[in-house]
Amino acid sequence: MSFLELSGLSKTYPGVTALADIGFSVGRGRVHGLMGENGAGKSTLIRILSGDTVADAGEIRIDGAVQRYGSARDAFGAGVVVVHQELQLVPDLSVAENLRLGRFPARGGIVDFKALFAEVGKALDEIGIAVDPRAKVATLSIGERQMVEIAKAVMIDARVIALDEPTSSLSSRESEILFRLIGRLRDAGKVILYVSHRLEEIFRLCDGCTVLRDGKLAAHHETMEGVTRERIVAEMVGREIADIWTWRPRTAGATRLSVDGLQGSRVPQPQSFTAQAGEILGFFGLVGAGRSELMRLVFGADPASGGAVRIDGQPLEELSPRQAIRDGLVLCPEDRKADGIIQGRSVGDNIAIAARRHHSPFGILQPRREATTADRFIETLRIRTPSRRQDIVNLSGGNQQKVILARWLAEPDVKVLIVDEPTRGIDVGAKAEIYEILYALAEKGLAIVVVSSELPEIMGICDRILVMCERRIVAEFDRPSFSEAALLAAALPDSEAPLTSMVS
Ligand SMILES: Nc1ncnc2c1ncn2[C@@H]1O[C@H](COP(=O)(O)OP(=O)(O)OP(=O)(O)O)[C@@H](O)[C@H]1O
Ligand SMILES: [Mg+2]
Repeated sequence: MSFLELSGLSKTYPGVTALADIGFSVGRGRVHGLMGENGAGKSTLIRILSGDTVADAGEIRIDGAVQRYGSARDAFGAGVVVVHQELQLVPDLSVAENLRLGRFPARGGIVDFKALFAEVGKALDEIGIAVDPRAKVATLSIGERQMVEIAKAVMIDARVIALDEPTSSLSSRESEILFRLIGRLRDAGKVILYVSHRLEEIFRLCDGCTVLRDGKLAAHHETMEGVTRERIVAEMVGREIADIWTWRPRTAGATRLSVDGLQGSRVPQPQSFTAQAGEILGFFGLVGAGRSELMRLVFGADPASGGAVRIDGQPLEELSPRQAIRDGLVLCPEDRKADGIIQGRSVGDNIAIAARRHHSPFGILQPRREATTADRFIETLRIRTPSRRQDIVNLSGGNQQKVILARWLAEPDVKVLIVDEPTRGIDVGAKAEIYEILYALAEKGLAIVVVSSELPEIMGICDRILVMCERRIVAEFDRPSFSEAALLAAALPDSEAPLTSMVS
């Protein structure tokens, strides 16, 4: 029996058909995957379901009743709860206040904070999320914020729950908690729509799935029986994709980057490592292990309290992004939304505003070359946009990621390129292109440092992997000794029991 029924849903934006005549149904107590390349229309569909976007045509039925909601509030009232791709918590409020927004326990007109914290604390415990209900959301990690957002969906007795890429910033442990939660919601008869670019999650969690391509329904699978990974990939991209882990041997050259005893407030003990010309060096660890913090120190984005960074043997005169870029070291940050996107500017500008000009106001504009570079990356990374003139805010989440990544990949005269979670939120087709670009840059003699929380990615593309745990480099693996079990074991703090790997 279908509980959630979608039919004829369509939505166009100027120059873009985001959704064209989409219809499918999902029964109660089922987890249904929603797959598709960046820009395929997944978030648009979810936003229509949540009342944030109004469809041009089409119908939503829940339990047989046609839904006519004009706002997100109406959808909420109909029992639809959505965890959006972009987090929507209020940073200056506590976790508890965010979770109970507008529905505080009160005594005599005054919010009873003690009762609020106790109530939310209990709910978080039940759900299995280790976050202090009193903590301000601004002080939480991205992963923790995501968990709070998910808790918000769970604490309300929803009938339909849609999760738009919920695990993109979660550690594998946090993902495990989420998966258990989803299992419980399924057992309680909810309909769960689950958007993810991670195929292993879809196979593990989902009872069925729908694939979108260019806003159209490419496939609908009532069950996952007989559905293979290759088939879904082909349905998503409309072509066969060979193995995306095309690691090939390279000869490493001289030491390009050498980091000696670097430390700062968020990396309290001195850390050292080197990367050679032509090498792809991976940094693996759980979310919060200190990898991004260490890279920010290397780039000079955070102040160092000690240590040195050398490029080709020459120490950087000062540890600042400006000096680093001048000497050929660039960092493409993890939080590209906050650190990268120039809102209100075109896709072309966002690619071509060279990293160095981003950090110094005295660059020379070269419009023609910039346009060529932008068009080249729009093509190779398959950025879905009507043209390079489109405002970047109109792009889908993954396509915005590609644009910012392109900016750093396009940066000329680079010796050391650090990329932090380069393929987060990026579809499988474009991942392969990104790896190809990284290989080509390594073959040109750059030293590439890749920070990633995805084991298949880091094992698939790196020559050597350093593992961080609790803000220290704790282990080193050369390619022949890569193993999932060994990497995970090294990444886990001693105090924590080993977890089952998410990777199938
Ligand atoms: N406000 C808008 N104005 C113009 N175009 C838009 C707008 N919102 C979405 N689009 C376009 O609609 C298409 C579908 O976007 P959507 O966000 O649904 O993709 P998605 O499947 O969620 O992709 P991703 O995996 O990158 O998150 C994209 O081409 C996007 O650029
Ligand atoms: Mg999306």
